[in-house]
Amino acid sequence: MSEQIPGPEHAPRRRFLAGVAAVVIGGLAGLAPLLSGAVSLLDPLRRRRADPGVALVTKLAVIPKDGSPKKFTIVADQVDAWTTHADAPVGAVYLRRGPDGVQAFNVVCPHAGCFVGVAPDKSRFACPCHKSSFDLDGVINDPRSPSPRNMDALDVEIRNGDEVWVRFQSFHPGRAEKIPVL
Ligand code: FES
Repeated sequence: MSEQIPGPEHAPRRRFLAGVAAVVIGGLAGLAPLLSGAVSLLDPLRRRRADPGVALVTKLAVIPKDGSPKKFTIVADQVDAWTTHADAPVGAVYLRRGPDGVQAFNVVCPHAGCFVGVAPDKSRFACPCHKSSFDLDGVINDPRSPSPRNMDALDVEIRNGDEVWVRFQSFHPGRAEKIPVL
């Protein structure tokens, strides 16, 4: 039996089917980037990056009783698009006992991002880069300080009687307002 070859009368139907196939394939190709964007927005791993959360820093007894500041590294799980790095250092804070409880300050200078130090007599914070000076409450105490704002205070919670938890955040340097870095 010989196979029948479609004649010219089938040409419009073939053109129609080819057109439908082109529209379907083109539509699917256009959806791919939209779907991948939606997946990355909804991916719980990516959403966790926006909130660094609250980190357990130390026990109350470790913070000096005389009000002098002590530096602590903040350790947290760091999550990128595909990988979790457990217990990675993500920053550092100064903790001190203030008049109203424990205070926490990000160690990064709000002027240009250097690490603020503590003066040798422990009476103030001093930035080595451009000489910004802050009192132990983090307030600018020298009008020549180029920092546009006080040191960045962070929220502190005492849990279970003696655990010091800090909501660690970084803020953009060089601005008068505290704008979180997300
Ligand atoms: S970075 Fe601290 S004073 Fe400039």
